[in-house]
Amino acid sequence: MPTTLLHTPGEMSAITRGWRDAHETSALVPTMGALHRGHLALVEAARKISQRVVVSIFVNPLQFGPREDFDQYPRDIEADLDLLNQQGLTDVAFVPDKSQMYPDGHSKTEVLVSSMASVLCGQARPTHFAGVTTVVAKLLNLVQPDFAVFGQKDAQQLAIVKRMVRDLNFPVEIVGVPTVREPSGLALSSRNRYLSAQQKSQAACIYQILSQTHQRFLQGERNSERLEEQAWTQLSEVGLHPEYVSIVDRDSLVPVAGEIRRPATLAVACPVGPARLIDNILLDTGS
Ligand code: PAF
Repeated sequence: MPTTLLHTPGEMSAITRGWRDAHETSALVPTMGALHRGHLALVEAARKISQRVVVSIFVNPLQFGPREDFDQYPRDIEADLDLLNQQGLTDVAFVPDKSQMYPDGHSKTEVLVSSMASVLCGQARPTHFAGVTTVVAKLLNLVQPDFAVFGQKDAQQLAIVKRMVRDLNFPVEIVGVPTVREPSGLALSSRNRYLSAQQKSQAACIYQILSQTHQRFLQGERNSERLEEQAWTQLSEVGLHPEYVSIVDRDSLVPVAGEIRRPATLAVACPVGPARLIDNILLDTGS
């Protein structure tokens, strides 16, 4: 099935209105392009749960800080469309430009899931999640999908989007899809393109250390601070300088103090060479 390329919000909304009239379900996969196997796994999950799939490709300026990599962020629409066409599971690629998404050059309205946006990555990127939730809210309104699919690699983004949808009664189900990894364990990310081979193998230590911490958790260690500290030490031992190593409640992102009693996320952000990488692992208490 060839993927139809649409550029304008009007065309996008008209197509999905037609699908709704025909009682067909749809799923949105929001992306910033530079697609890789991780994105294709999102599309595959979307296709399994709905009849129609829209992939949006938009490098959203609102979610980049002034000294971040907006200008360098990899953009290759031709390659992205080739990948989607080869996979054959996407009905529409929605590729608006900035003037179509923000006709005045900006959005006066901001959607902010307050306390959840200021923890973890929000400490170093204070405006990032408001940019994400604002653009995701716009995309949900334009497409009006039954499902929207996000990767679990950005656990904070997933939790925040779920909370936004709940707080604002968006009629959509948010679906999280497991992180796709290199054989080394390195989580696939568009930003891995910034890494040399040596930096990639150093970056792979992040998930190896998360897995070892998970193992300690499974063996009965339930103290949050001890698990964080051990992971932090191990990261330092391989020459990494994490921005944070935090165990937070999976849904609310509130830091877990003392004993872990509910499903929690162990999340890490770490600069490696020119990239700032994030990864996480679920510490599932089974409750
Ligand atoms: O995860 C991303 O690629 C972006 O944050 C998203 C969800 C597409 C919003 O721009």
